[in-house]
Amino acid sequence: MSDALSYLIKARPEAMTAYFTFLKDTGKYLDPKTRSLISVITKIDSQTERGLRQYLPRAIRDGATPHEVLDAILMAFPTLGLAKIVWAVDILLDMDIPEFRADMLGAEPAWHDLIAWDNVKENDITYVEDCDGRSVFIYRSGDDCRVYDSRCPHQVTDIPHLALAGKKLTCPKHKWAFDVSTGECVEKGTRPLNQFTSRITEGRLQANW
Ligand code: FES
Repeated sequence: MSDALSYLIKARPEAMTAYFTFLKDTGKYLDPKTRSLISVITKIDSQTERGLRQYLPRAIRDGATPHEVLDAILMAFPTLGLAKIVWAVDILLDMDIPEFRADMLGAEPAWHDLIAWDNVKENDITYVEDCDGRSVFIYRSGDDCRVYDSRCPHQVTDIPHLALAGKKLTCPKHKWAFDVSTGECVEKGTRPLNQFTSRITEGRLQANW
């Protein structure tokens, strides 16, 4: 939430509570994906960069494919016009969301080879950089293994290996912090790290995305 909204919530709590109740109520008959797509369009129309950076990944999380997001943006052309669409696509490119890269558009989920299972450290975190366009953090405890996307669940920042201190991973952008042994967000934020399904095949750890 922006500093301005936080300020207004403190300064005018009744009015702002009514405003947020109104916003929540307006979408109650829509499924989450449709709500997120409409939010993406409204952020583009008002040219709210911060909101757009937040709602683009949310739309994907709520089940929209990159092509559906692009369709929604293009369908809104009569009201947005080309300049706002180009503004939005520039931000989208800057975010470098893997699913939106031209060579990954429309790709079906597939297994990706990460690392030899014997090289995954016990009770520790292993970082694998740039595996088929993504980096991941791996936590292994015995035979239990969790593979997490290095992209922050807040605004898709690619969290670097250097941001890891013990098992705590802190996103450099807005300081959401995560416990990599569970994936849970432990400071500031509200959502856990995105976890990929994983498997061990012929001594290799693989993940599906
Ligand atoms: S992008 Fe905002 S905390 Fe990571």
